[in-house]
Amino acid sequence: MSIIPTHRPRRNRKSEVIRNMVQETNLTVHDFIYPIFVTEGQNQLVEVKSMPGIFRYSLDRIIDEVGACVELGVKSFAPFPQINDELKDRLARESANPDGLYLRTVSEIKRHFPEVVLMTDVAMDPYSSDGHDGVVDAESGEILNDASLEVLGQMALAQARAGADVIAPSDMMDGRVAWIRDVLDRNAFSHVSIMSYTAKYASAFYGPFRDALGSAPKKGDKKTYQMNPANRREALRELRLDEAEGADMVMIKPALSYLDIIREVRDNTTLPVTAYNVSGEYAMVKAAALNGWVDGERTMMEVLMSIKRAGADAILTYFAKEAAQVLRRG
Ligand code: PBG
Repeated sequence: MSIIPTHRPRRNRKSEVIRNMVQETNLTVHDFIYPIFVTEGQNQLVEVKSMPGIFRYSLDRIIDEVGACVELGVKSFAPFPQINDELKDRLARESANPDGLYLRTVSEIKRHFPEVVLMTDVAMDPYSSDGHDGVVDAESGEILNDASLEVLGQMALAQARAGADVIAPSDMMDGRVAWIRDVLDRNAFSHVSIMSYTAKYASAFYGPFRDALGSAPKKGDKKTYQMNPANRREALRELRLDEAEGADMVMIKPALSYLDIIREVRDNTTLPVTAYNVSGEYAMVKAAALNGWVDGERTMMEVLMSIKRAGADAILTYFAKEAAQVLRRG
């Protein structure tokens, strides 16, 4: 056979200028939301073992780090706290303490950088002596949905008071978006947004994050509230509920093993869709790169591009700062 091809897609790939011209997806620094870990004490800068390049910062050190990111154009942050064990209890009371580490961090960052967007995490696990996102029944070990809503509402309100721009419930309790919206609205915080963790799966990819915060469940797992990784339709059910309950943005988590879910959700909502490129996904790329098995920088950019291409408008990623440096270099 000697048929000459009529259609030659390669013509659109023949030079860099043409490739750039027909490029369908573009990553910019505006796409990134940077998760940052805060810890007690002074002058603390401790690398997370399973997340090379990611640190836990004490409050005095975090301001410099946020400043460096802002300089690079990264202006949205999702702080997470490492709480001392003696402050943890069954009801996560520390989560609503205005003088506690987390809320002090939020107000300090806003005081230094009023223009940044802070997306605060609502879930009980960093403050819970049980290490669960909701209230654990002492006898049955069951996660009590409606009792948790009470705690989550107080936590969200305290975060709004501290200056949070966006409340991000990651707990997966039923009805929490409506509950939090109601608490915020009744307390003159109708301008504070809610970014819901809409489809958050019970994933093995959260391991390094739980190491970083010491927030792993003491008993059991999170399968009665986080979603089964096998399910796709259920993500659409959660999406409908979050829309009806008043979410301003929805999130899919993790990202890489769930690119199909990101696309599905993108095609079924007019709300902005975000995706969380989680700790285990970061760790995989870093581990391979440190071994010289993949080109770390190219792999990072390809991962982020794929999440955007799948339909995410914004990406929570531990790569935010590094990727911003790459984008700046051009
Ligand atoms: C818990 C929470 C988790 C993450 C963010 N919020 C872990 C979990 O559900 O146990 C994980 C983020 C990551 O792995 O990067 N509320």
